[in-house]
Amino acid sequence: MGSYGHGDTGWFTHDRFGMFIHWGLYAMPARHEWIRNREKINDADYLKFFELFNPDRFDPRRWAKAAAAAGMKYFVFTTKHHEGFCMWDTQYTDYKITNTPYGRDILAEVVEAFRAEGLKVGFYHSLLDWHHPHFTVDFLHPLGIDKTPEEIAELNRGRDMAVYREYLFNQTRELLTNYGKIDIFWYDFSYNRTQNGVPGKGATDWGSEELIKLIRSLQPDIIVDNRLDLPGSGDIVTPEQWTPDECVIDESGRPAVWEGCQTFSGSWGYHRDETSWKSAKQCIDLLINHVSRSGNLLMNVGPTSRGEFDYRALERLDDYAKWMELHSRAIYGCGAAPAEFPEPRDCRYTWNPETGRLYLHIMNWPFRHIFVRGLADRIRYAQFLHDGSEVLYSKGQDHMLSYCRNPEGMLCFELPVIKPPVEVPVIEIILK
Ligand code: GLC
Repeated sequence: MGSYGHGDTGWFTHDRFGMFIHWGLYAMPARHEWIRNREKINDADYLKFFELFNPDRFDPRRWAKAAAAAGMKYFVFTTKHHEGFCMWDTQYTDYKITNTPYGRDILAEVVEAFRAEGLKVGFYHSLLDWHHPHFTVDFLHPLGIDKTPEEIAELNRGRDMAVYREYLFNQTRELLTNYGKIDIFWYDFSYNRTQNGVPGKGATDWGSEELIKLIRSLQPDIIVDNRLDLPGSGDIVTPEQWTPDECVIDESGRPAVWEGCQTFSGSWGYHRDETSWKSAKQCIDLLINHVSRSGNLLMNVGPTSRGEFDYRALERLDDYAKWMELHSRAIYGCGAAPAEFPEPRDCRYTWNPETGRLYLHIMNWPFRHIFVRGLADRIRYAQFLHDGSEVLYSKGQDHMLSYCRNPEGMLCFELPVIKPPVEVPVIEIILK
């Protein structure tokens, strides 16, 4: 372990908040980015999307501005998803954006626009490829679903993963050479298990050992995720669609750099009919819950096939913008608080080790009081972050509820009855 090198995560653990963008042909059917798998669609039936893809309302500057306003500091864009369609002008296949009616290199346009807004650049790249003729059929491949090992062997006659591997290497080299400094490379994903007698794919199929060397040689500072099925090769742990309740540890038991990736509604690609959209509160909670466990949040948007962010995603981004405008100090540069500050009921802490300030996020507005341990005689000043107004506190012993004394060492914040007009109010605690 450790022989695979490491990227620069210094900026990453400071910035904490990024935008994931899942965009590809699957935006047209608008029924999930796994549609080819879910509906067992073969290449011929999927061709119509390739022939017609033409996002006439695409303006990446608007996307970049929305991301920056929401407080996001980096983005990760799908160069290619499992469908195999390439969003850049690659020289290694015809199945690419420049051969659609749109005709231009979308990746280049996105990168330029987001860089101009000051965001760092990340590429998501699918290891799976359901279009490439040499990517062997397995139990996830649209042609291989529910097939017997014999049927799959038959389908794989003439397919050679070594050829696909070379394609994967060539495209990786291309992506890490032609677009300037790339800060993150996000490979997706390995499934090194056997299902009903049919093997999945992992490190040997991808050539992960050589691949990681290639990446680090081309972009020494780049952050690579942990989905190459090669322990020790990743810089970040990437829980998906769930939030760890504790700080994450790596394979050797040390605190890991981690990033949860989440969606506004469930699917990653644009899904017209999905109704499971998260509320503003849930979205802001997600961000706080990640940072309070020293994690990053990578929040996903799936643009429509005309090239716009869905109106519901725009609403949520705007909710982030409003909250971050006033509370980013409790996010940037922050992580989990030291164990000497146990979280009060219905609250989370974030902590900035540079300034030594502690942020109490009040997730569920209580009636008038929050009782806190670990802060007696430690506070110099406490204020709401949204308006800088002083928050009073009293020691447990001389609390006004004199017949019902709080234990020694307990401290009590005095809150207004009405919740302040922000989604999640935060008390900034300046320690002595
Ligand atoms: C999954 C899915 C996928 C999505 C990704 C994001 O592994 O295959 O569709 O792109 O997670 O983390």
